[in-house]
Amino acid sequence: MIPISATETAELLDSAKSVIIVPGYGMAVAQAQHAVNELTQLLREKGVIVRFGIHPVAGRMPGHMNVLLAEAKVPYDIVMEMDEVNADFPDTDVAIVIGANDIVNPAAQEVPGSPIAGMPVLEVWKARTSIVMKRSMASGYAGVENPLFYKENNRMLFGDAKKVIEEVIKSLQH
Ligand code: TAP
Repeated sequence: MIPISATETAELLDSAKSVIIVPGYGMAVAQAQHAVNELTQLLREKGVIVRFGIHPVAGRMPGHMNVLLAEAKVPYDIVMEMDEVNADFPDTDVAIVIGANDIVNPAAQEVPGSPIAGMPVLEVWKARTSIVMKRSMASGYAGVENPLFYKENNRMLFGDAKKVIEEVIKSLQH
């Protein structure tokens, strides 16, 4: 497991051409949607192509992520469903996972006996680098370990999602 700082995250994003953001339940808990919108705007001003990948059961109710992103005024045309972006991760520089866990768990594909085996997931680990923002190594709703956190190209940005995104924004502005 490799941790990363907000400053290092900003450096990675600054040199990225394409980014896919995957929000989950933790974005709702942290009320991070406005910070997420601000980060999105900043990256787009820098010429980065930013899109969102929304899993059908992200969060705790249908449409949970879409409602929060709409509230924060994230443009609709960059908010995509899982099936619209899943094939694009291999051509993506950075996948940012914001307080999501089960919906990006590769165990669904890689661990045959897993309780989530066969569940469709967003394949963020196929991006050049994936960055997971969450407070700890704790599991999500399904209570299943997530091997994504230990992949060679994955980095963990620990902290409350709103707080760490605000730190990344500050670093990007300097
Ligand atoms: P989860 O797998 O539940 O993971 C959410 C993660 O957010 C947690 O592991 C937690 O890690 C992190 N988190 C919590 N508070 C945070 C904060 N303030 N800042 C940063 N991270 C925070 O969520 P998901 O990936 O969205 O998947 C949804 C799950 O809920 C699925 O298993 C789905 O089946 C289930 N479910 C969905 C629905 C609907 S309809 N959407 C309904 C019922 C159940 P830390 O504690 O380490 O921060």
